[in-house]
Amino acid sequence: MENRSIVVTRRLPGVPFDSLAKRFRAGDPPPDGPMGREELLRRVRGASGIVCTLADRVDAETLESAGPALKVVSNYAVGVNNVDVAEATRRGVRVCNTPDVLTDATADLGFALLLGAARKFSDAERFLREGRWSGWDPWGFLGVPVLRKTLGIVGMGKIGSALARRARGFSMRVLYHSRRPLPPEREAEAQASYRDLDALLSESDFVVLCVPLTAETRGLMSRERLSRMKPTAVLVNIARGEVVDEAALAEALSSGRLFAAGLDVYEREPVVHPALLAAPSAVLLPHLGSATRDTREAMGRLATENLLAVLEGREPPTPVN
Ligand code: DGY
Repeated sequence: MENRSIVVTRRLPGVPFDSLAKRFRAGDPPPDGPMGREELLRRVRGASGIVCTLADRVDAETLESAGPALKVVSNYAVGVNNVDVAEATRRGVRVCNTPDVLTDATADLGFALLLGAARKFSDAERFLREGRWSGWDPWGFLGVPVLRKTLGIVGMGKIGSALARRARGFSMRVLYHSRRPLPPEREAEAQASYRDLDALLSESDFVVLCVPLTAETRGLMSRERLSRMKPTAVLVNIARGEVVDEAALAEALSSGRLFAAGLDVYEREPVVHPALLAAPSAVLLPHLGSATRDTREAMGRLATENLLAVLEGREPPTPVN
């Protein structure tokens, strides 16, 4: 066994803890739930590699606690907003993530939220489960159509582009907003047209958020921006909760200023804003974007390969820095 140590912060599909523990010092098996802060800071001491999840805050304090042996932080997620990448870079620590393998699962879930919110799935199912359904109702749970409507994608990366492909099946007109327009050949391939954010919000029947969480995107869907959306529109968030002002969104839903929302992510996970829990026409899922067995196993394999590549002195397949 090598003298180097690694930390896996949680039992993860596709991450072969037992075989890693035969090669590196790996401590106790990872817990089934998120690792507490104190335990994380304690376990990372002297580690050469960390495999972590979006629930682990790998900030300057964590990196300091790990110390100079640390070579790689392999995040089991595509989003790396839980990692202080600038600080890791300053310390010569590679940060890796798990893009590509979760693109389709996440785009599927985004489209499912779009359809589910358009047709008020959550309100209707709750009504049925509560035993309140008294028979077919010509006025019950009237939704909005999806076919041939306008989809606005905010963040036209891989997941946004995969959503655009799904939208073709519903003959949707696709608009997108990104930090900068796509090169013409990629725009043609996506069959999507660039808009500035305010124009996209006012023209779209469905707005799906696919941006990474950064200083620029935090609070992007402010009260003011939400008010630019059509009252018949649906907002879907598969990015990060902090991109949306949740209190303002809940108000918009409750007042009928916005038709519906489909959310997979929240500002203070696992806490969901009480006003959102109470709001009508909201389909609320517990951060399931990448949650298929195949995808989660592929994420684990990639996170492991990123870890091993850096520790073996090779270029990792999906580095962030
Ligand atoms: C990610 O990868 O960033 C998702 O939010 C979790 O799979």
